[in-house]
Amino acid sequence: MSNKRLFPPVASSEITPESAYLSRRTFMRASAALLTTGIAADSGSASPRTGGEALNYQRASPSANGFHTAEDQTPQDDVAAYCNFYEFGTEKSDPASYAHEMSVDPWSIEVDGEVSRPGKLHLEDIMSGFDLEERIYRLRCVEAWSMVVPWVGFPLAKLLARFEPTTRARYVEFSTLYDSQQMRGTRSLTGLIEWPYREGLRLDEALHPLTLLSVGMYGKTLPNQNGAPIRLVVPWKYGFKSIKSIVKIRLVEKQPVTSWELFAPSEYGFYSNVNPEVDHPRWSQKSERRLPSTLFRPNRIETKKFNGYEEQVASLYTSMDLKKQY
Ligand code: MTE
Repeated sequence: MSNKRLFPPVASSEITPESAYLSRRTFMRASAALLTTGIAADSGSASPRTGGEALNYQRASPSANGFHTAEDQTPQDDVAAYCNFYEFGTEKSDPASYAHEMSVDPWSIEVDGEVSRPGKLHLEDIMSGFDLEERIYRLRCVEAWSMVVPWVGFPLAKLLARFEPTTRARYVEFSTLYDSQQMRGTRSLTGLIEWPYREGLRLDEALHPLTLLSVGMYGKTLPNQNGAPIRLVVPWKYGFKSIKSIVKIRLVEKQPVTSWELFAPSEYGFYSNVNPEVDHPRWSQKSERRLPSTLFRPNRIETKKFNGYEEQVASLYTSMDLKKQY
């Protein structure tokens, strides 16, 4: 099947010139609020809110290790309203409208493959078994929008250590819940994307201290649309690597195939490091729209290599040609 025919909609802001896209919405909504908050106006506000339970965690403090960016944080409403979570649909507002249909209680993550102690961790054990900390990270989508979010979570490395990876483990594969009853997008996108949504990291990337398993944002548990109850955040890679609502982690010897690679291998490679020098085949990656960004208050900034985390992560890729292994 041809990828061209099947390719799910890219953000309409990338297909339509940004000015046309925003002005159409501006006129449609005729809302003064939109002119300042833009994207938040699509928030699916009639849907029940999810997440938002208070969490105990260590606050981020400025440091040189990349755990804390002092850049302005994106307002929480924008982060919760403008999402990619194809299990609920391809429009940016679909996850906010429909992700409440997913139940996140009970929840567990199964860890198996190349580990000495395979098993399952229930969410209660995760919440009580790991010290939660805040990480203020930039996240940049392959579609060239970006945001700054105070996540709450713990290093993925700490979870993996519990299961004792064997010496054969070289990669980590992640899968999202797949339940067509609760995830309406999987019903309409049947045959387009192979479910469950899958992602992968090399083991050294997975063990990097910046790689976070997040259970919250802005001090509270995650809204469903942002990946409740637990998701990955890999700040130097395009947003799609940050897989949401994880139910399975498998340590493997061979490089796993990810959902986006399966779908469009010429557009979405396994590594997907943020790289302004390597354009997406259909658009430039040199700059990004930092949310909130609107027609009258555009907030376009230059994209930095490794999303600004070069000092922390460049050493992982010294022997690689990142133009070929994109
Ligand atoms: N995880 C799953 N399971 N399904 C998805 O469609 N979209 C990815 C990623 N994780 C996605 C996913 C993409 S394309 C992006 S940009 C980020 O989630 C967006 O995270 P956010 O919606 O919390 O901003």
